[in-house]
Amino acid sequence: MMKAVWELCVFVTNTGSFKPHHGKANGALPPPLIELHQLFSSSRAIETNTETAQDLAYLQGRGTSLGGLRPKCSIRDEDGSLAIGKFPSASDERAVTKAEVLALTLAKQAGIQAADARIVMSEQIPIAVIKRFDRTSTGARIPYLSAASLLGAVRDDPTDHSYTEIVDALRIHGHDVQADIEELYRRIAFSILINNVDDHLHNHGFLHVRHGQWRLAPAFDINPFPHRARELKTWISDDAGPESSLDALQAVALYFQINKPLSDTIIAEVTSAVKNWRQVGSEMGMSKTELDAFTEAFEVN
Ligand SMILES: Nc1ncnc2c1ncn2[C@@H]1O[C@H](COP(=O)(O)OP(=O)(O)OP(=O)(O)O)[C@@H](O)[C@H]1O
Ligand SMILES: [Mg+2]
Repeated sequence: MMKAVWELCVFVTNTGSFKPHHGKANGALPPPLIELHQLFSSSRAIETNTETAQDLAYLQGRGTSLGGLRPKCSIRDEDGSLAIGKFPSASDERAVTKAEVLALTLAKQAGIQAADARIVMSEQIPIAVIKRFDRTSTGARIPYLSAASLLGAVRDDPTDHSYTEIVDALRIHGHDVQADIEELYRRIAFSILINNVDDHLHNHGFLHVRHGQWRLAPAFDINPFPHRARELKTWISDDAGPESSLDALQAVALYFQINKPLSDTIIAEVTSAVKNWRQVGSEMGMSKTELDAFTEAFEVN
């Protein structure tokens, strides 16, 4: 229901055709950070089917929706740059927004290029504010392609592909091929260790560099999932199936042209960063109870 409303607001016209989202409504800029709470309240009202005409008019007027499964908005950060605000959902059983920021923070500490993210407390509501990576410092748009698009797999089941196919695509379309292949290897190791099992092809993307060459976009939408089977949505390889293990990853290292010492170094660096998850979470303001709820996701305890 919520998704339908989001789409109605922004993405799909009455005839069902795609309407590109320019981050603007009626020529206006996305709302400033100070409106986060109003955006959250109106979004929550829609999510719980308690919205008023004012809520709808407000959200439509602001043109802030970005689609996707979870409530979120476009927002203008304090420095004027564009960001995405992700709200807690009424159905959350855990501190999901904080855990996403924790994952993005840990990813950086593991040597991964990840979207800049922080928690903004808005009247006790923890909202994840994630900087957009598809804009230049002057606000121009950098072309973005999801891995599903680059692989020509938009009509396929987004979970029906493997990381070795992304490696193949990088070899054809990549700008800095081997660096990105190693970055991908590092991201897979990270996903395994935090049980980021929502790693389907729409959660990987590429930014255009020049002359039809692409680089991996910063990592985004990475989350620790406790109590979910340790099975990747994007398989490590066709042979590995959904198995999510460092052994399965190391078995394809040569396909990534990563030798054993480099593989060991990457895995050691990622493991040592992920081991700090409790401390980093607690420095972010997560309580012991909030952290405990995610223990099962982190393989390194
Ligand atoms: N930091 C960012 N900069 C630019 N675009 C982004 C950024 N983060 C996400 N996106 C784009 O917005 C889309 C939705 O974001 P995201 O995947 O984080 O949300 P979600 O609601 O968790 O999605 P899902 O539908 O996977 O549950 C992404 O697929 C990507 O295209
Ligand atoms: Mg996503």
